[in-house]
Amino acid sequence: MISGLEDVVAAETILSDVDGQSGKLVIRGHFLDDLVCSATYEDVLQVLWDGFFADLSDSGRLTRQLGLARQEVFAHLEAVDRRLLEHPNIDVVRALVARMDDGQDISAALRLAAAPAVFTPGILRLQRGLAPIAPDASLGQAADMLRMLHNKVPTMEQRSALDRYLMTVSDHGLNASTFTARVVASTRAGLTSVVLAAMSALKGPLHGGAPGPVLDMLDDIGNAERAKEWLQSALDRGERLMGFGHRVYRVRDPRADALKTSLQALVNAGQVDERRMRLAQIVEKTALELLARKKPDRALQTNVEFNTALLLEALGFPREAFTSVFAAGRVGGWIAHAREQLRAGRLIRPQSRYVGPQPATPA
Ligand code: COA
Repeated sequence: MISGLEDVVAAETILSDVDGQSGKLVIRGHFLDDLVCSATYEDVLQVLWDGFFADLSDSGRLTRQLGLARQEVFAHLEAVDRRLLEHPNIDVVRALVARMDDGQDISAALRLAAAPAVFTPGILRLQRGLAPIAPDASLGQAADMLRMLHNKVPTMEQRSALDRYLMTVSDHGLNASTFTARVVASTRAGLTSVVLAAMSALKGPLHGGAPGPVLDMLDDIGNAERAKEWLQSALDRGERLMGFGHRVYRVRDPRADALKTSLQALVNAGQVDERRMRLAQIVEKTALELLARKKPDRALQTNVEFNTALLLEALGFPREAFTSVFAAGRVGGWIAHAREQLRAGRLIRPQSRYVGPQPATPA
């Protein structure tokens, strides 16, 4: 028995392929590196959902429909009470999603794809005692999400950075939340149930809860002069450096590279805290040198979480909302996998081996 199910093929999918040996991520026939240069999040949704809904529009109309879906789900923010707001952002998002109709059609899919993008900034504002900003259906999802957070239209670099992030995390093989989504879909429960279950898997610190610790590490190091000593001490204590290494990607994490380009664009436009970025660059360079010395036979590279942390922080999202922003991108993949699983038609029902005590009395 393999306890983490590594190397067990549990589904056939046309949606994404994680090629760890060559450091490539393919999303339905497109390299992620190419998609992030030429597409929007809505284009990626169209690519992922194509063929899974009878009445799916082209990506231009989909952008508009997703905008209208954002306006529709905005009303749910009125149902947030004071006690609910004491919970972490992702838990409030989950509570609001739970109130949505458990449908299977394209309208249900659009509302669910819109929900975390609307709820995340709305909840953050409510938690600060501010009124949520209503969605603008004429904008793309990334631009509108930033507008709903800051109450102003984002710069081109900011919009493009969040759009790239949402695309980058839209799908990634059979990760824990996507597997959860497929299990729930296989029972023929509706898409709301699928997304709720997937979000619950995502919020764990071993899955979507990882980028926060990268910022904790940078805060703790504090200034560049301390980087080498801090990192070396952490390694000497046998600790892992947050934001480096990956179970599957053996040469590079293509998602980290995609986000790095956006970070650089924000730096060039003077739209990030320069001190923070300088510190991050020195920490990254030093960590890679120390890891190469410590594990010369294992190419430990910067992973997606390192650049995610810097990017979302630069865009003004507080770290406690990072998991919800992740959900705003991954929800497209969960829905596509749910529809694909439904088409496969088979209830997922593996076996367990009983190793508990036997009854004292014979049967
Ligand atoms: N810092 C220090 N050492 C690391 C390391 C890191 N970030 N990542 C891997 N290593 C070490 C491991 O301890 C292991 O050493 P050992 O053989 O002496 O036990 C060796 O490198 C090989 O590890 P590997 O098999 O490649 O990694 P893994 O599959 O066990 O772990 C991660 C993968 C992602 C869990 C691991 O790299 C990690 O903990 N990274 C930090 C947390 C993080 O950034 N998570 C987000 C991932 S997207």
